[in-house]
Amino acid sequence: MKQTYYITTPIYYPSGNWHIGHCYTTVICDALARFHKLSGDDVFFLTGTDEHGQKVEKEALKRGITPREFIDPLVFELKDMWRLLDVEYDRFLRTTDEEHVACVQKIYQKLYESGDVYKSEYEGYYCTPCESFWTEAQLKDGKCPDCGREVVLQKEESYFFRLSKYAPALLEHYQKNPEFLQPKSRVNEMVNNFLKAGLQDLSISRTTVKWGVPLPFDPKHTAYVWIDALSNYISALGYGSDDDSLFRKYWPADLHMVGKEIVRFHAIIWPAVLMALGLPLPKQIYGHGWLLIGGEKLSKSKEAERPELTDPYELVKRYGADAVRYFLLREIPFGSDGEYTTERFLNRVNADLANDLGNLVSRTQAMIAQNFGNLPPRGAQEGTDGELIAVCEGAYGKVKAAMDALDAPAALSAIFALVSRANKYIDETTPWLLAKDPAKRERLGAVLYNLAEAVRIAAILLRPFLPRAAQAILQSFSCGESGFGALAFGTLAAGTPVTRIPPLFPRLDVKKELAAVAALNAKNASKTQSAPKVQSAPRPEKQEIDISDFEKVELKVGEVIACERVPKADKLLHETVRIGGETRSIVSGIAKYYTPEEMVGKRVVVVTNLKPVTLRGVLSEGMILCAEDENGGLALVSPERAMKSGGSVR
Ligand code: MSP
Repeated sequence: MKQTYYITTPIYYPSGNWHIGHCYTTVICDALARFHKLSGDDVFFLTGTDEHGQKVEKEALKRGITPREFIDPLVFELKDMWRLLDVEYDRFLRTTDEEHVACVQKIYQKLYESGDVYKSEYEGYYCTPCESFWTEAQLKDGKCPDCGREVVLQKEESYFFRLSKYAPALLEHYQKNPEFLQPKSRVNEMVNNFLKAGLQDLSISRTTVKWGVPLPFDPKHTAYVWIDALSNYISALGYGSDDDSLFRKYWPADLHMVGKEIVRFHAIIWPAVLMALGLPLPKQIYGHGWLLIGGEKLSKSKEAERPELTDPYELVKRYGADAVRYFLLREIPFGSDGEYTTERFLNRVNADLANDLGNLVSRTQAMIAQNFGNLPPRGAQEGTDGELIAVCEGAYGKVKAAMDALDAPAALSAIFALVSRANKYIDETTPWLLAKDPAKRERLGAVLYNLAEAVRIAAILLRPFLPRAAQAILQSFSCGESGFGALAFGTLAAGTPVTRIPPLFPRLDVKKELAAVAALNAKNASKTQSAPKVQSAPRPEKQEIDISDFEKVELKVGEVIACERVPKADKLLHETVRIGGETRSIVSGIAKYYTPEEMVGKRVVVVTNLKPVTLRGVLSEGMILCAEDENGGLALVSPERAMKSGGSVR
């Protein structure tokens, strides 16, 4: 029977300051989700955005725009980042989604009715960047003990959750379920510093923050953003709604993967809320470590002080999604912190991907092409063939054990042990010498068959980690769809067409790359210091028009930088369009004529001063122009020569 596997990432603050550290949690979850899907499990992989709260409210205010105008482009940018990194989630939840808001209200109502929520007054400190409350005694040198930034004294009427009541039950849960929180090192902190010290009731509503979910029993209060955010793990499954079939199927979650700084919210507050709701607790919470630069948590605010390339878009653009995924999954010892430098990244890519994997694939394919065309027959075993075959056959067990322990670096190390063994086999069997002797042709065929099988098996095992490279390798052996069911050595039939592919990971000149990165950072320094990458520009104060006022229509050249289908709307595509310095979300009825992949990179003409509308829950801030034929078929209108995005169309 299929097992269900429900895995979640934290939902991201729409800050726009994404760096490679942010990609860590989600790339790990994607590899785990892909591994379980390939294992035949029924997987639900959830991610999304945490959009309410004081931080967003303040940022929008600072820019003179609404919170919604502030967050929408950032949410699209985040989705774009996941697309670039080949992250394949099953649901992207926004805490501004109607169903989520309704679910949060249901949760508050339930807690209120059961007596676990009461009204009082909050007096204490608040850290806006962390959205967390602190008592004076908890502060470190008067600052937030988590992030070291300024806190503000807050005094306001608030509803409280009886967190203190759940300390004994939580303690018992920790004692009975040693797997509940991992790695073990995080348990001590939760149990000794928090649970045993006794919990205080938690302020869970704000009257001074307007950008939040109004409480159903007292709408001048909005929900505390952490309760709002944590609820996403069940609202995404329809908890409390008319259709809670997903909730019944997938809850409790198998794994909440989170960074170590937010373990406290997940391992204390969230289970207490679930207990109060009478719901089972997630099976496991994993608090992973951080990517560090110079021993400090990688963060965008320190960008100007360091010469490293940390921008995920730039990294993917220069080196490809697989290289970025590989570094994150292989280099950071799981559960611990790991240092990031561009040089380390480049060296890792060169050593493992360009040299070990890339060479193995290209040498094997080149020798098959030169000597046989298609795959030669398997032939008799001799020499070290048995050793190679044993490594191939034993690899899946090792990868599975590592992935069951959530240890992606160990899984990759098992796969690359296979790759190394195969490279050693080439040195041992010297196929280039066999090729010179016509009497050895049969042996040459057997050696190349064994190598092809080693490459194919490594590629299947690499699918969760390097989806693109794995797919390209498998396709070149005419078996693009192979899953874990095809791991047996000897599966490929003699005569299978083998096509040569261009180098998967061309060798990088580290010195040259570091110089290019330094130049790039210098160019970006002023930009990145002063403004987040994508910023919703304050809307110019101009009269919005109807389409009939054609003379007043403002038309501009835009570039489609991301595109996806609108769920449950077979005619609609949702494009992210760059128009000069601005990024817009646009919905168009062209899904019958263009695929999302075809749209990306297209130069289009956009009506930029149309009143924004929401179509099927997606914001549309403009219209992409199309020509229509007599049958209603649509074709995009594009400038005839390459024109810069943002240019006006007259
Ligand atoms: N919105 C909250 C989570 C709410 S979940 C109910 C939040 N968002 S975040 O955008 O700040 O962080 C998202 C993820 O990125 C977290 O898992 C965080 O630990 C991770 N990382 C951010 N910087 C990181 C590093 N430098 N290294 C590794 N992961 C880091 O927290």
